[in-house]
Amino acid sequence: MTNIVDQITGHRRMRRNRKADWTRRLVQENRLTVDDLIWPVFVVPGTNVVEPIPSMPGVKRMSVDRLVEAAKEAADLGVPALATFPNVEMSLRDETGSNSLAADNLINQATRALKKHVPQIGVITDVALDPFTSHGHDGILRGSEIVNDETVAQVARAAVVQADAGSDIIAPSEMMDGRIGAIRQALDEAGHQNVGIMSYATKFASAFYGPYREAIGTGGLLKGDKKTYYIDPANGTEAIRDAALDVEEGADMLMVKPGLPYLDICFRMKEAFGLPVFAYQVSGEYAQIRAAAINGWIDGDRVMMETLLAFKRAGCDGILTYFAVEAARALAKKG
Ligand code: PBG
Repeated sequence: MTNIVDQITGHRRMRRNRKADWTRRLVQENRLTVDDLIWPVFVVPGTNVVEPIPSMPGVKRMSVDRLVEAAKEAADLGVPALATFPNVEMSLRDETGSNSLAADNLINQATRALKKHVPQIGVITDVALDPFTSHGHDGILRGSEIVNDETVAQVARAAVVQADAGSDIIAPSEMMDGRIGAIRQALDEAGHQNVGIMSYATKFASAFYGPYREAIGTGGLLKGDKKTYYIDPANGTEAIRDAALDVEEGADMLMVKPGLPYLDICFRMKEAFGLPVFAYQVSGEYAQIRAAAINGWIDGDRVMMETLLAFKRAGCDGILTYFAVEAARALAKKG
C-alpha cells in the first residue's frame, strides 16, 4: 500500500536533493563570486578625510588619498572595479554643472590617482551632471526644463575628459535621449575606442536614492523631482524599449537601477539583449538592510549575501553594491 504522500507526489520528492549540505552544494544553480562585485565609493576634497554618512552606516566619504588605500584593499580582495561619485564643493557647483568639464575636477583627480596607484582595479565613472549642478538635477536646467540635447552635448564632452583622466568605463546615469550614441562618437573621435560604456539603461524615478543624495550633498538642493527623465516605476515594457535604444547606440553593458525591487527588469533585460547586465543595489536598499541589522531585526550578513545572490538568479552578471568589500571578505572567508 502506498502512503498518501506518495500517491499525491507520484514518488517525486523535492526534499531528496536538499537532504544534506553536500547535496545542496551539488545542485546549487547560482553562485556569487568576488568577480561579480562593483564597489560604489564617494570622494571628497582634501587629504586624510574619512567622513561617515549618517544614512548609510558603514559607508564613508573619502579623500583621494584614503580612497587609494581603500581601493588597494578592495583590489587585494579581488573586487574587479569601483564606481566613483564626487561630493563637490558648493562653490564649484553652478546652473550648468560646468565643473564636470574640468580636467582636474574631483572625479578626475580620483581616477588619475587610482589608475596610478591601483592599476589593477577598474574605474567606472558616472557622467551625469548632478554632483556639479547647483540645483541637483542630472542635466542643464533652463527655466523649469531639463534640456535634453544641450545636456547630451555636455555629457559627451565630460565623458571625453573622464576618459582622458584614465576612466575605463563611462557610465551615463542621466537618462537623456541619444546620450549613448553621442558619448560613443565623442569617445571614438578622441581616440578612446577602448573605453567602454555601461549604460544606466533602465533607471527609475525611485525614492530609494535618498541616502546617496545626502552622500554627494545634493539632497537639500534638488528642486522638484526627476520624473521627466527617469522611468516611471510602473513601467516595465517602456524600460526595455529604452534599453533597446542604448543597445542600438552602442552600449557595451547595461544597468538596472534600483536593484531588488526591479529584478523583473534584470531578468527581461538579460533575456532581451544578452549583453552583460548589472544591477545597482542603491543607497536606500543598503540603508534598509543596515538599519534593520543594527537594530537586531535581521541577520545583516545573511540578508546581504541573499540579496546579492538573488541578483545572480535574476540573470545579472554583477552588482554595484555598497556591500562589495564586506561581501568580498565574507566570500574569502568561505573559501
Ligand atoms: C544620479 C545618480 C543617482 C544615483 C547615482 N547617480 C540617483 C539620483 O540621485 O538621482 C543613486 C545611487 C544610490 O542611490 O546609491 N545621476
